[in-house]
Amino acid sequence: MVHFEPVAWTGSSIRIIDQTRLPEALIYEELTNTDEVIKAIRGLKVRGAPLIGYTAAFGLCLAMSSFPAAGKPEDFLAALDRQSDKLATARPTAVNLRWALDRLRQAAHLAIERGPLSSATQAMLEEARMILAEDRKIFRKIGELGFEVLKGYTNILTHCHTGALATAAYGTALAAFHIGREHGKDFTVYVDETRPLLQGARITTFELKLAGIQAILICDSAAAFLMNQRKIDAIIVGADRIAANGDTANKIGTYSLAVNANAHHIPFYVAAPWSTFDLDLDSGSKIPIEERDPVEITCFAGRRISPKDTMAYNPAFDVTPHRLITGIITEKGILTPPYDAVIRRIAEMM
Ligand code: MRU
Repeated sequence: MVHFEPVAWTGSSIRIIDQTRLPEALIYEELTNTDEVIKAIRGLKVRGAPLIGYTAAFGLCLAMSSFPAAGKPEDFLAALDRQSDKLATARPTAVNLRWALDRLRQAAHLAIERGPLSSATQAMLEEARMILAEDRKIFRKIGELGFEVLKGYTNILTHCHTGALATAAYGTALAAFHIGREHGKDFTVYVDETRPLLQGARITTFELKLAGIQAILICDSAAAFLMNQRKIDAIIVGADRIAANGDTANKIGTYSLAVNANAHHIPFYVAAPWSTFDLDLDSGSKIPIEERDPVEITCFAGRRISPKDTMAYNPAFDVTPHRLITGIITEKGILTPPYDAVIRRIAEMM
């Protein structure tokens, strides 16, 4: 498996891969302040729920690194909340963003309770690094469980991008294929192009090709036809937020896939870490759905493709109701219905 480092702390900045330039160019960029971090997240230079979280976490370290050493702890904590709230506005749907920021805030509070103010930024940095280290293990586990679920199938459909470039390693949905490769299993992965920003066409195919996994790119609208032709054995996607009842927000187009999978009796799986669950929301109807600039639909590769002033509506995510999901693959195990009871039980054990 090719190793990517989609985000890294350099000591004074955050190094990212500008994913809007893939696959033509692998360009690294350094982010040096909060505004640049927010712009990079919003502009999808870094994208995918877990990666957004890591980038925001390092962004908070960056923001707080300029706080005066002789400052007061209460001023530090107030500035921490302000910067954290600012970073949290970068994108609304992926809950991993807020989750990672909250972990860093807790680390800072603990450091200040126990030691000098100067230990807080170091504690935050260690926490951000720990999130990445933990996630590497978590995504391997998700890959192993995903492989267990999919190993009896060959032709798998996926949507958007869910690989190592969106996570700390392996990926969420794509992790199953990387682990499959280690076991000598040859999957054929049908990749939805993922309109309008083509994460499937640009990034998923890039990553699968590098890993030597057969990828066949299709238009999003071809998926139902392929299911009807019995060309798809199973579907696996990632998630940006999962409510307490299992309803799952993911890239726009995921819901249509789930409806079609159900109509064709094809198993439909979600793969996501526990950090993507939002137990404060009892159902998916409460998940905030990002609406992006209509220009992403009215223009293509910098050229307008619809008449001037065409109205367009561009929700970036949709919500798949839990009843359409065969299983949710997490590091805690493979969850099956009834999701609300299983999710509650796991939460109680933590
Ligand atoms: O808008 P994006 O590219 O950040 O959307 C990404 C997705 O929807 C992924 O499917 C999701 O984050 C899965 S987990 C890597």
